Amino acid sequence: MILLLGATGHIGQAFGRELRRHGRCFVPLSRRTLDYTNFENLFDYVRGMKPELVINAAGYSGRPNIDDCEFNRIETFQANAVLPEVIGRVCQMTRTPWGHVSSGSIYSGARVFENGELSIVRDLNRPGVRQLHSEHPELFVGFSELDEANASFRCPPCSFYVGTKALAEERIGTGGQNYIWRVRMPFNERDEPWNLLTKLQCYPRIRDDLNSISQVDDFALACLQLWDRQAPFGIYNVINPGAVTTREIVEMIQRTLCPERAFDYWLDDEEFYRRAVQAPRTSCILDASKLLRAGVKMRTVREALADSLRNWQPAEELRISRKKSSFGDGRARDR
Ligand SMILES: NC(=O)c1ccc[n+]([C@@H]2O[C@H](COP(=O)([O-])OP(=O)(O)OC[C@H]3O[C@@H](n4cnc5c(N)ncnc54)[C@H](OP(=O)(O)O)[C@@H]3O)[C@@H](O)[C@H]2O)c1
Repeated sequence: MILLLGATGHIGQAFGRELRRHGRCFVPLSRRTLDYTNFENLFDYVRGMKPELVINAAGYSGRPNIDDCEFNRIETFQANAVLPEVIGRVCQMTRTPWGHVSSGSIYSGARVFENGELSIVRDLNRPGVRQLHSEHPELFVGFSELDEANASFRCPPCSFYVGTKALAEERIGTGGQNYIWRVRMPFNERDEPWNLLTKLQCYPRIRDDLNSISQVDDFALACLQLWDRQAPFGIYNVINPGAVTTREIVEMIQRTLCPERAFDYWLDDEEFYRRAVQAPRTSCILDASKLLRAGVKMRTVREALADSLRNWQPAEELRISRKKSSFGDGRARDR
């Protein structure tokens, strides 16, 4: 049995869908049923249930966005830094393997070959960098799992949210029976508020940036495949290979979904930070080759985006299908 924590969240639901799709035995535990953030509660539960794997998809990323974490620091710290440590201790004491959902946003920029040398470019919106990327994407090498976070409390600036995610990775470490799975700007075909593709269609203005991103169902499947293949424990960047600009994504949205609205962009980051957001945002490219070396192949980011847009399920359709399925199956309830 697999124990899934944070099952009611977006990433938790993606794990739930994958586990159900493959008929896997799992328990989607919610704080409503058991306050798993309490050490004794979780310890007793794990000792009694003896799961083969614990997945930690719980966390606090703010509503409607990470700016909220700047104001809810205790909640953010508890969920993103304290809870993973509690889970880690429980799993160590019960000798239970576990996986923690982290974030690629602990990096800013990319490693780039410039003048024959590999150096870190922290700001991908720096003049000339985007031009270089569009002409020579092969010069851009993403951050690997060996690179230290360069957006963290140790390496500011960073948002409070990102700081807690980097701190959790540091505290969990890589010496135990645990995975750290990094997801980045999740998306899929479901028109829901957390989805990058929904967000881009709702923002009054868009920041044109460059990122590695994760199709969330591919992400959940890849994490489970690492476990099934008994890939070595440790950190994995779980993103769809490649990097993509928000402008390219918007163009794909326009071509496929033909929305009636026009899309505007912030002039530059100066205007974006002055008028749109409070906390620093990261934009980064990650290297997914470790995942591939472990035998887990994710489709490219452009394939995943095209597929999500082709199969786009507008919010209204989702609402109706949810209503139908709740009438149809009274048994399907999270614990
Ligand atoms: N969404 C993203 O864009 C994104 C990107 C990168 C990384 N991540 C990471 O992925 C993990 C899950 O994120 P998500 O987007 O799925 O978040 P979410 O939709 O807000 O769900 C998180 C779940 O965590 C549980 N939880 C435990 N302690 C909590 C607390 N103190 N406050 C709020 N929720 C708490 C809740 O489940 P129960 O109440 O049912 O237990 C909640 O449903 C987080 O670690 C996040 O940092 C997310």
